[in-house]
Parts: sequence; structure tokens; C-alpha cells
Amino acid sequence: MIKAFLFDMDGVLAESEDLSVSIGVSYFRSIGVNANASDFSRYLGGGERIFFDGPAKALGLSGSPYSYDEASAYFRKEYERRASGLDLSLPGAREIVRSARKSGIMTAVASSAPRWKVLMNISCIGLTESDFDFIAAGEDIKRNKPFPDIYTLCLIRLGIDGPEAVVFEDSVMGIKSAKSAGCHAIGTGSTYPSDALYGAGASYVVSDLAAFHSASSAMDLLSGERKWEKHAAITGYVKEQALKLAERAGYNAYAPYSGFKVGAAVVASSGKIYTGCNVENASYGATICAERNAITTAIAEEGRTSIDLIAVFTQSSPPSPPCAICLQVLSEFAHPDTIVILSSGSERLEMKFSELLPKPFALNTI
Ligand code: THU
Repeated sequence: MIKAFLFDMDGVLAESEDLSVSIGVSYFRSIGVNANASDFSRYLGGGERIFFDGPAKALGLSGSPYSYDEASAYFRKEYERRASGLDLSLPGAREIVRSARKSGIMTAVASSAPRWKVLMNISCIGLTESDFDFIAAGEDIKRNKPFPDIYTLCLIRLGIDGPEAVVFEDSVMGIKSAKSAGCHAIGTGSTYPSDALYGAGASYVVSDLAAFHSASSAMDLLSGERKWEKHAAITGYVKEQALKLAERAGYNAYAPYSGFKVGAAVVASSGKIYTGCNVENASYGATICAERNAITTAIAEEGRTSIDLIAVFTQSSPPSPPCAICLQVLSEFAHPDTIVILSSGSERLEMKFSELLPKPFALNTI
């Protein structure tokens, strides 16, 4: 049972990163170093020390005129001056904290930033300290995210176990920290690409906290957690059903230009079968293939899922495989062992997805 929501602050509840970076840039300029916002991007979310030491090192500064203590003092003075009176709340932030509290879910902030900044941000998002059961800040731990320490501290203080907490984080380091502490993690925001957040262990990635209408909608999301990692049992019966439905979907194909009707069926990890047919268009390039129609229907019904079987019915000999565009689209949800069955009624071929597309394109960032 979920008992607490633990929030990172910067980039999750408060839109403070732009302000922080702009002050960071002006600090370096004040000591005659021409820094840019991009110099900071790799060092966000790991606390103040790395926020300054990271870019300093990358800019080739190992000492004077750079001093972490001076940078830190400059930052505090400027941040307090510039943030005061600003509304830094990110969409949905106030609402989810209040909604959680109303539904009896505990709330905590777990930020690597210094406590003065966390408290300042809490007031800049229109909340108060009393909206949280616990506030963990940078000074409370020695090892920053991605170590689990800050989340472990929250769990201890709230008297709960990792799986009883949902962490909301915008950074890879933050998601790693939450997962190492055994918590569920939801990625938010656009600081990092969603693939990177999923790669770090996020169960879901949403654009902002307004994606949740209430605290319970965040929990509903988790109840179907990582269903794409589960797989449907593909029995002989399932194969026959999928083929029958693919053939039937093909009857509805709208193919007045090519006369080539295609029917497709995909089996999602839930075991449900979704179908599609090709829908052509007078503007030929606007035509949509049967396989893509089937996959988008599955996703529209179930959200992210795994595709464990693809059946395609064509009246060609040998039966046609999905085109390269469809394979690329399918590769997002299929896995190398996903079974592909191609049928024309009289001929049938069966293969693995990896045989058709051994090397799908993926956004593997360094
Ligand atoms: N088509 C599909 O439905 N799936 C494929 O993978 C390849 C092609 C359709 C598109 C068009 O309506 C017709 O077949 C001829 O290209």
C-alpha cells in the first residue's frame, strides 16, 4: 500500500532551475569567466557543491578566482533577492501535495539543495512547511543522489518501507536514488529525455504533475506498473485467434488505390488482441498501414504495453511482412522474441521479430 509521496523540489515542484542556472552563470561572469547555461545542464539535481564544482572543473578552474564558498554565498544572496515574491510553482505541484494529504498520504520533500533554498522554494510554490510531514535537504545527508541516502532518510522518518513510497523526480540521478532506496519512481518534466528516466528505473514519465487529477490517479497509474515487462502466453489457440481477427480486419481495409488489402492483429501483454487494416488516402503518403493501425489501437486502449504476437494477413504469395516503417513503430513495443505470423490463408510463415528487424533504431543517449 502506498503511504507517502516524496517529492524532489527543483524541476518537480518548483520551476527554479532556470533561475539557479542564471545565477550560476552570473557568478562565473562576476569572476571574469564566460560561462553559459549549457555548462550547468549536466550538474543539476546533485546538490549545490556539484552545481558549482562541476562547471568550474569543466571550465578549467581548479582554484582562484573560483571558490565554492564564495559561489555558494553569492548564490544564496542572489537567489533570495530574485526569487522573493515569484511564483515558481510547476503545474499541478500544489494540487498533488494537497490532494495527497487529503487522502491520508504522507508527503515529504527530498532535495539535495541547501535547506534555506528548499524553504524559500516551498513558499514560492504557495505551500508552507506544514504541508509536508518531513523535509530532507542537502545538509541532512553526506552522500547525494544517486545514492539512496536522502530517500532512505525520508522512509526512516516517516516509518515506512521503500515500496510504500512514490518518488517524483525529474533527473536521472534522482530516479536512481529513489530506486536504490526501494521506492517507486515517477519521472516528471523535460529536464531529461523520458527514455533516460525510464532507463534509470522510472515506472512512468509524465510531463508535469498536472498529469494527475488527484493523488489517487497517480496511484492508479502505479497499479498497472511496468506491464510492458510482462508477457502474454502465446498458445496455439491465441495464434489462431489473432490470425482469424487479422483476416477479418482486412475485410475492412480501405484500399481503392492499390487494391492491396491488409489485416493485422497484435496481442498485448494483457492477452487482449487489437486489430487494424490499411486505410489509404488520395494523397498516397497519408496512407496508414494495417500494422500501425493495430498497434496504435492497442496503445490507445492500454497505454504502454508489450506486443507479444503480430499477425498479418495479406493476399500475396509469399505472405507479406510488415513494411520497414511499421517494423520501426512496432519495435518500440515488441521485443526480439515477439512472434510474427504472416498468412495469406493458404500459406503461412512464422518468425521472430528480431529476424525481420534485428537492429531497430533507438534513441540511445550517451
Ligand atoms: N501496407 C500495409 O498495410 N502494411 C504494410 O506493412 C505494407 C503496406 C498497405 C499500405 C497500402 O495501403 C498498401 O498496403 C499497398 O502499399
